[in-house]
Amino acid sequence: MTPQPGATPAIDHYAVMGNPIRHSKSPLIHHLFAEQTGQAVSYEAILVERGGLADAVAAFKEEDGKGLNITVPFKQDAWQIADRLSPRAQRAGAVNTLAFQTDGTLFGDNTDGVGLVRDLTGNLGITLTGRRILMLGAGGAARGVLAPLLEQQPAALVIANRTIERAEQLAESFSDLGELSGMGFAALQGRHFDIIINATAAGLRGKVPDLPEGVIHADSCCYDLMYSSEPTAFVRHARALGVQQAYDGLGMLVEQAAESFQLWRGVFPATAPVIAALRRQ
Ligand code: ATR
Repeated sequence: MTPQPGATPAIDHYAVMGNPIRHSKSPLIHHLFAEQTGQAVSYEAILVERGGLADAVAAFKEEDGKGLNITVPFKQDAWQIADRLSPRAQRAGAVNTLAFQTDGTLFGDNTDGVGLVRDLTGNLGITLTGRRILMLGAGGAARGVLAPLLEQQPAALVIANRTIERAEQLAESFSDLGELSGMGFAALQGRHFDIIINATAAGLRGKVPDLPEGVIHADSCCYDLMYSSEPTAFVRHARALGVQQAYDGLGMLVEQAAESFQLWRGVFPATAPVIAALRRQ
């Protein structure tokens, strides 16, 4: 049916699902994107019980929802329930964006890695190509961003993890995409990196990975995938070691959201004003 002139356009519904979810910034980010681009969308945060993602997604689809962001701890579950995956989601083993297709199928994508690369290269002006990158951590967060990082063709990418085998396995499973190796923290002694990315969960307890002295030095560029209203433990640690370029993951959060928004709505919102608005909060 053709809408009447002047009629309010139908609103399309989106949401983020996670646990916990109360402090998610995604609703605010997507409201700002919608306002800026004039898109008629609503976006809410939905708390989902562990093990309950498939039911929650089905219920959202019943209510004619158009798409979802999926956050901790459900990204692997979302990967399982998607009918079709983008190559980058396939590779990441995790999905952070779901889109309900008109044919009734569920498409899964992962925009975390491209969001990180966009923040590093676009917003922060950091070149990845030809540089030596150290990735701290070998869990889901690290896995999710590896392929887009390797696409930038760094000179080398080292994955270091508390549990050495996990680092070795992760490096092995992405070894077709570039020059990478996996090791424990102690083996980093005496090595030099241009860019150090913290993808460990240590910051959740206010901790930082236990690195040998000298691995982080004043010229390192340090990036924490985590963010919070206060500087994160890793950012504070880097600054205390004299690092000038120490960043949290707020820019990545906004960039991955923008990629999701584009997938759903076909427009890419301007991210800089949204990052600035969140920083002011
Ligand atoms: P996520 O999906 O957030 O990556 P995960 O898969 O549980 O969660 O992985 C958590 C990562 O943080 C792992 O690399 C973990 O190291 P282990 O594999 O040795 O467990 C790392 N991690 C958690 N706490 C840490 C700490 N205090 N110091 C160093 N690494 C830590």
